[in-house]
Amino acid sequence: MVGSLESTADPALESAMIIEPVHTLDHVRKSFNSVTNRADRSQIGQFLTPAAIAQFMSSMFETGPEEVRLLDPGAGAGMLFAACVETLVSQKNLPLSIEVVAYETDSTILPYLHETMKRSQSLCVSKGIVFHGIIKPEDFVSAAITETQESLFTVPGPRFTHVILNPPYKKINSRTVMSRMLYSSDIEVANFYAAFVWLSMRLLEPGGQMVAITPRSFCNGPYFKKFRVEFLHMMSLKRIHLFESRKKAFGDDNVLQENIIYHAVRGLQKPKAVTISLSEGLDFDKAQTRSVPYNQVVHPDDRDMFIRLGTNDADIGPAERMGCLASSIDKLGLGVSTGRVVDFRAREHLRQFPEQETVPLIYACHFLNGFINWPVESGKKPNAIASSSKTSNLLVEAGFYVLTKRFSSKEQQRRVMAAIYDPARIGAPLVGFENHLNYFHKEGKGLPADLAKGLAVYLNSTIVDQYFRLFSGHTQVNATDLRKMPYPTHEQLLRLSRYVKETMPDQETIDDIMEKECLNCEQ
Ligand SMILES: C[S@@+](CC[C@H](N)C(=O)[O-])C[C@H]1O[C@@H](n2cnc3c(N)ncnc32)[C@H](O)[C@@H]1O
Repeated sequence: MVGSLESTADPALESAMIIEPVHTLDHVRKSFNSVTNRADRSQIGQFLTPAAIAQFMSSMFETGPEEVRLLDPGAGAGMLFAACVETLVSQKNLPLSIEVVAYETDSTILPYLHETMKRSQSLCVSKGIVFHGIIKPEDFVSAAITETQESLFTVPGPRFTHVILNPPYKKINSRTVMSRMLYSSDIEVANFYAAFVWLSMRLLEPGGQMVAITPRSFCNGPYFKKFRVEFLHMMSLKRIHLFESRKKAFGDDNVLQENIIYHAVRGLQKPKAVTISLSEGLDFDKAQTRSVPYNQVVHPDDRDMFIRLGTNDADIGPAERMGCLASSIDKLGLGVSTGRVVDFRAREHLRQFPEQETVPLIYACHFLNGFINWPVESGKKPNAIASSSKTSNLLVEAGFYVLTKRFSSKEQQRRVMAAIYDPARIGAPLVGFENHLNYFHKEGKGLPADLAKGLAVYLNSTIVDQYFRLFSGHTQVNATDLRKMPYPTHEQLLRLSRYVKETMPDQETIDDIMEKECLNCEQ
């Protein structure tokens, strides 16, 4: 059943009513959280927005038309539209009417949502604004796909002037009907949050505005490329807000995902600059703000359309300093690939320790002080893989390789962790690299020793780590990310290699060496 509330101004009601400001809705959120289970909420991607964030998000909308149609897909208890209505009715130029359409599938939260809708209605009535509130207790994705499908027989429904959303963060199983439905609607995404944003942009009228809070993982990386390209094509990205502390946005709900808030307007024309702000947590009044040229946020020649989020000098510093590193993985004639041995698929060929007819199998546990230390006695991982015709396509010829971990833990100081595979220390004709590693190679084979050493110094430097964090919100280090980074020239790498003897220099020394290298090229 669709709940609908409609009303126009009622002077009697206006004088009789006391409408609580939106920040009091934080009690609703807290009370809902206390009567429900976090695991259940997490299952449906239900992390409710704190009032302070909702108010901040609403403040990002620019002045819009007099007749507002506001969409809140996955509305929860209605915090977002409530904050938005409050902001709209506090403006100097009041809208004539506001229609709110809120989708929500969780029946437990619907009573809270109805209450919030009534509250928004009362607020509008008290200001003489025509209000129409519609609660749709149904799946937003299917409804929006139907709504936006173009056919000869359907007339598209009216579009929205505003969308405000904090969509569910949940993986989409590629074998489900939902995934097929999305695919047939040209939406290829791996997470519900991106599907919600994608459909919401389609539901906006030209010039319509969106404010969203989502994980920042879509800003880079291969999984979100299609989404990013479409988003940046359909929308004009005007503003981005970042949180310094990943824990502070949804603090009491313990959400560790790095979230960003953004404001974008439907239209093909891109802005000259994007306003990027940064606050530690909910202290928005202390946020640092800067205006960054659009082509620095989205590089015009970047086919992957990464959204680069440099905010303060500490962040911009590495990017600028890295500007002196003029080479690229292609110019160096190198390649980077993901380890070919997927251990659970090759289980029958794995051996705990080396035996006859086996070769080394390298995992992250073999990283030690910048080199590969093999075999390890106490590790849980196997040390070897059978070398046979069945495994030959999983192995590479012995040689110098630089390995990096694909997954770093949060405790690790750096995201990019590199180690040198020195064939002389291992003494085997072939080697297997496990799939949780990436490896740098030259046409599939080993690199010259000094190039490998220089490359490992560079990859282990803090400047690379900072640069990497600039455009990556997650702890994963993909081969694509490594391919896109700037690199020192061949000559510079040879200079760096001289510092590697039996061990890798310590962090301070590496950073000093890199600093000198960058200073040299500035002169
Ligand atoms: C991250 S919560 C945010 C709730 C609210 N917008 C807020 O900011 O407080 C996402 C909400 O979407 C709802 N939801 C999940 N899947 C949905 C779907 N397919 N259609 C509509 N709502 C959905 C969840 O029940 C949850 O309440």
